[in-house]
Amino acid sequence: MAGDKTKVKIRNTTFEDIPNIVELQKVSFPLMAVEGAIWKPRNLESHLRVFPEGQFCAEYDGKIVGSISSLIVQLEPEYKEHTWMEVCGGPNFENHDPKGDSLYAADVSTHPDNRRYGIATKLYDARKNLCIKLNLRRIIAGGRLFNYCDFAQKISPEEYVKKVISDEIKEPVLCFQIKNGFKFIKILPNYLKDSRSLNYATFIELTNPHYRQVT
Ligand SMILES: CC(C)(COP(=O)(O)OP(=O)(O)OC[C@H]1O[C@@H](n2cnc3c(N)ncnc32)[C@H](O)[C@@H]1OP(=O)(O)O)[C@@H](O)C(=O)NCCC(=O)NCCS
Repeated sequence: MAGDKTKVKIRNTTFEDIPNIVELQKVSFPLMAVEGAIWKPRNLESHLRVFPEGQFCAEYDGKIVGSISSLIVQLEPEYKEHTWMEVCGGPNFENHDPKGDSLYAADVSTHPDNRRYGIATKLYDARKNLCIKLNLRRIIAGGRLFNYCDFAQKISPEEYVKKVISDEIKEPVLCFQIKNGFKFIKILPNYLKDSRSLNYATFIELTNPHYRQVT
């Protein structure tokens, strides 16, 4: 990124941003894009209809360089094993439940030309602030184990995560989430069809320190 990274602006996504977010998705998730497993315009439109406050993008120099999509869910039990499809109810967020207690981080991406400039961290800050504002108990997500395909012959996903946490293995997605305060809960197998992670994801959680139980 040439220029001043303090000029990156985080804001709620609008309907006008949708074509640019679709382009961002194509370059951020190139393998999934081939399989058609990225947001389609109608999915992003649905996110904006069901939960406009939960959708954010990062703008720099007039371009969309990052985005996140979120919904609210309630898991019973709280660490229920799930797939991406089950928890979201589908790519249109059919499971969005305004009465739920958890903000679910359905995706995050930064344009490949703009990584390691703190853009996704700023997007996550927006998510954290939203969680506090809505008095939700926590943020949860399934994070794809991005580089597990390079280690799968030798170690289990659990061992892989241990090595990432102890800094023996660098892993773009989990390192980013840990840096942003998330705690690893458990492995979610068959989370999402993804040749990089071999469909393994980490169930991660960040609790809201300001949460007040409403009786
Ligand atoms: C994961 C992703 C969103 C991170 O975006 P980003 O804007 O580059 O992240 P940030 O600049 O805010 O990174 C913050 C910290 O996370 C960690 N981190 C981020 N990318 C990392 C990497 N490739 N390797 C190791 N640590 C990394 C670092 O600690 C970094 O801080 P530092 O740069 O000061 O060392 C980005 O790599 C991406 O879009 N990946 C492809 C899409 C994807 O798989 N998304 C996850 C879906 S589950």
